[in-house]
Amino acid sequence: MAELLVITTLIIISASLTSCYFTEKVRVKPPIAPNEWPCPLAEELTPCICTADQNYNLFMDCSNATTIDELADALNNATFPFYIFLEMTIDQENIANKLNTIKHYAFGALTFERINIHNTDIFSIDENVFSLSYETLKYLDLSKNALADFPFETISNYHILDSLIVSDNKFVDLPQITSSTLKTLKVDGNANLRFQDFVFRDAPALHTISMSSINLQSLPTDIFSTLANIEVINLSGNDLVELEVDSFNPPGNPILSLTLSNNMINFVRPNATNGLNSACSFYFGGNDVIDLEQETWQSVFDQAYEGSLDFTGNPLRCGCDIAWIMLDPTDKYRPLITETTNCQSGEQLISLDKNFFTMHCPQN
Ligand SMILES: *[C@@H]1O[C@H](CO)[C@@H](O)[C@H](O)[C@H]1NC(C)=O
Ligand SMILES: *[C@@H]1O[C@H](CO)[C@@H](O)[C@H](O)[C@H]1NC(C)=O
Ligand SMILES: *[C@@H]1O[C@H](CO)[C@@H](O)[C@H](O)[C@H]1NC(C)=O
Ligand SMILES: *[C@@H]1O[C@H](CO)[C@@H](O)[C@H](O)[C@H]1NC(C)=O
Repeated sequence: MAELLVITTLIIISASLTSCYFTEKVRVKPPIAPNEWPCPLAEELTPCICTADQNYNLFMDCSNATTIDELADALNNATFPFYIFLEMTIDQENIANKLNTIKHYAFGALTFERINIHNTDIFSIDENVFSLSYETLKYLDLSKNALADFPFETISNYHILDSLIVSDNKFVDLPQITSSTLKTLKVDGNANLRFQDFVFRDAPALHTISMSSINLQSLPTDIFSTLANIEVINLSGNDLVELEVDSFNPPGNPILSLTLSNNMINFVRPNATNGLNSACSFYFGGNDVIDLEQETWQSVFDQAYEGSLDFTGNPLRCGCDIAWIMLDPTDKYRPLITETTNCQSGEQLISLDKNFFTMHCPQN
């Protein structure tokens, strides 16, 4: 009986060793409990929480900090085995007493690659707040705070900053952005945001610009003309009425997604858009365009010949103005229009009967 027990035990041990050996590579360890090495002791770090993942990354969450001193004490006084953190998060959506300021000493000696601060009452960011992270920071997301002020002039100090997101704050001025690394800039939802005509001229790496819902009434000519890498532009939910010549003219046709939805655009000048990629998605829903005149629009369709164009929710007349689309000999324009694009009458544009155009529109 005893022998049997020993043998059974050996079998179990060897089986579990084998399975351990074979599963080692895919096994996922749970995040390390927040009160042990490589983090500081949890009681020293309150109200912040430190965690590590299986790739040896360190994370800090200080969402529960209610005063700047509480935050600064925790991050300055705790004993840190390591100072290089992947991410800092402060999200105070469900916190009653929110932080209303942040100071340069708040983060102690820590550096971060990603910083997320949301739903606080912070209205201003000091010049040096993130200066220890000048060489490490890639992603800075300060959306949904009360910011009216940010040291935009320090952006060039960040060596590898890729994304700056300051949407849904209270900015009224966006100064000229200077950065050779910045790819994504989002300033959506800052009411009445003002900026200079050449705001992006010294940020040549920009790839995505999102400026929705900023009460934009007109777009400066040539604002994107230096951005050879610009792929995504979002200007939805603004107050644009007209698009002038050279509104979207970056070199090399890089624009893959151009969103102008939910403005009040009723007039687009020929050559407003010259930089669309052949695969561009052009979102123009919810505007006030009645006619898709050939003089203006053929070139847009020609640029986006492998893409799609959406005019949902425009009061389209669908008369002889679109004969050039309906009667093109190779029918190359009609299939680019989205299925949800209807005429003012409610008819789906792409399924209109071509014969009406043949019969009623002068041919050229
Ligand atoms: C914040 O405090 C609440 C309530 O004590 C707790 O449930 C939560 O885990 C804390 N979050 C962090 C990130 O410390
Ligand atoms: C942290 O250090 C500061 C001085 O640097 C001190 O005033 C404060 O009481 C300390 N906080 C804790 C929790 O030890
Ligand atoms: C443009 O911005 C609006 C508002 O922020 C958003 O809902 C929409 O998804 C964005 N469009 C694209 C194509 O990113
Ligand atoms: C649009 O640009 C093209 C090419 O630069 C030019 O030949 C044409 O005259 C322009 N059209 C208008 C209406 O400005």
